Amino acid sequence: MPHSNAVEAITMTDFARELYASTIAEPYRTKVVERLRLPSRPEREQLLREAFYSPAYLNASDVYVDLVTDSGSGAMSDEQWAGLMRGDESYIRSRSFLAFETAVQEATGFRFAIPTHQGRAAENIVMELMLKPDQIVLSNTHFDTTRAHVQHRGAMALDLVSDAIFDFAEPLPFKGNFDLEKLELALKLHHTKVPLIIITILNNFACSSPVSMANIRAVRALADTYGIPVFFDACRFAENAYFIKVREPGYEAKSIHEIVREMMSYGHGCWMSAKKDAIVNVGGFIATNDEAFARRCQEKLVLYEGFYTYGGLARRDLEAIAVGMREGMDFEYLAHRVGLVAYLGALMQSVGIVVSNPVGGSGVFVDVAALYPHLPPEKLPGIALFSDLYLEGGVRAGAAPFPMHTISKQTGQIIEKVFQFARFAIPRRVYSKAHMEFVGQVMNRVKLGASANRGYRVTEHPPVLGHFFSKFEPL
Ligand code: F0G
Repeated sequence: MPHSNAVEAITMTDFARELYASTIAEPYRTKVVERLRLPSRPEREQLLREAFYSPAYLNASDVYVDLVTDSGSGAMSDEQWAGLMRGDESYIRSRSFLAFETAVQEATGFRFAIPTHQGRAAENIVMELMLKPDQIVLSNTHFDTTRAHVQHRGAMALDLVSDAIFDFAEPLPFKGNFDLEKLELALKLHHTKVPLIIITILNNFACSSPVSMANIRAVRALADTYGIPVFFDACRFAENAYFIKVREPGYEAKSIHEIVREMMSYGHGCWMSAKKDAIVNVGGFIATNDEAFARRCQEKLVLYEGFYTYGGLARRDLEAIAVGMREGMDFEYLAHRVGLVAYLGALMQSVGIVVSNPVGGSGVFVDVAALYPHLPPEKLPGIALFSDLYLEGGVRAGAAPFPMHTISKQTGQIIEKVFQFARFAIPRRVYSKAHMEFVGQVMNRVKLGASANRGYRVTEHPPVLGHFFSKFEPL
């Protein structure tokens, strides 16, 4: 059975299948366009050399389809652009702040909404308030900025997602879930050191896989037995709710909004990079019902970001977030988006690429080791894929080994694992089905030529942020 059918069978409701699965017609039309350029093959060879074979040095204007991130790269709607014009730039309690506050309250059910300039600014404040050195933060999977903030406070980030995530072929509908046995064990052994449990929805670095409502409920119940607060890292909350609606029994008839409110009801609070599911180019927030905690966040906000009614953003940005929070929860938009991601995954599978199954919400995750079985990790198969993709078709995607700490169910020891994948993250409302077909064809050429790639070596690894700013050359 082709993988694509398997994915469809568990991802699509009849309604969505009828509307989108056959055509993936957009539930929007284009009003403004941006010219793209595909440099010639000889130009691409030169540009790649000049970029030191690193995604971090390649100019966006030299990329034809840019799938390096779905963060802040989406297209705002006419209503959001109109919101920018409506922006009330008053410092204190502007109309735009009130619109933002209302939209976050309505979406999440939390009373206090504290704007930040993006997700990691929220993480900085939450971690400063909640963490002490030598503590252990538990999550299904920490995103890399989240992990960095935990470590910055001298604490350790433990990822408790199920080991099934390392098996790209394993077709679990909620592969982003906490492994509850791991969570129980980690709490039993370390609960006195655990200040916070983070549920990342969708679970970005676990192949953009969703977390089920049953899992969220169980995590909260376990946390309650030890009196530990639960926060959502809610960047892709609406995509997660979409998967609950179409995959989890009992939720078919519920609206995305109802599902979001139920998810959030199991948290003491959340933070969000609005650059994902609120479809804005910048922005974020913290939300909670705990007034004392909210006040302390606002205190830190004044130090680091700005007054509590704008948090490092222009007020017009808050207006765009307010509109985007609602648009991001639109079922037809979500069915189209998730359908487009699944379509790219199916195209890749049809040319023999191993992708995470089922395909997640925000992007297609590719098994790099399966594509370059002859390249051991020290020959940098991720850089090989990045370079081949650019050479074959001017496409950019991200591929890096992702180191994580988890707990062994057998021994209870904390162990290190490295998850190697390439992420083809799809910006929201930006690329068409034809672009996905183009990327599918490029991946076919990459696959055909993969065995001829001899790997790469590092030529420069700066001591600070080396994983971003390293330079490479082909072997
Ligand atoms: N949490 C998750 C799950 C994320 O995916 C991101 C960002 C952040 C927090 C931080 O938010 O970028 O607004 O500061 N993810 C981007 C990505 C960068 O490409 O996945 P931010």
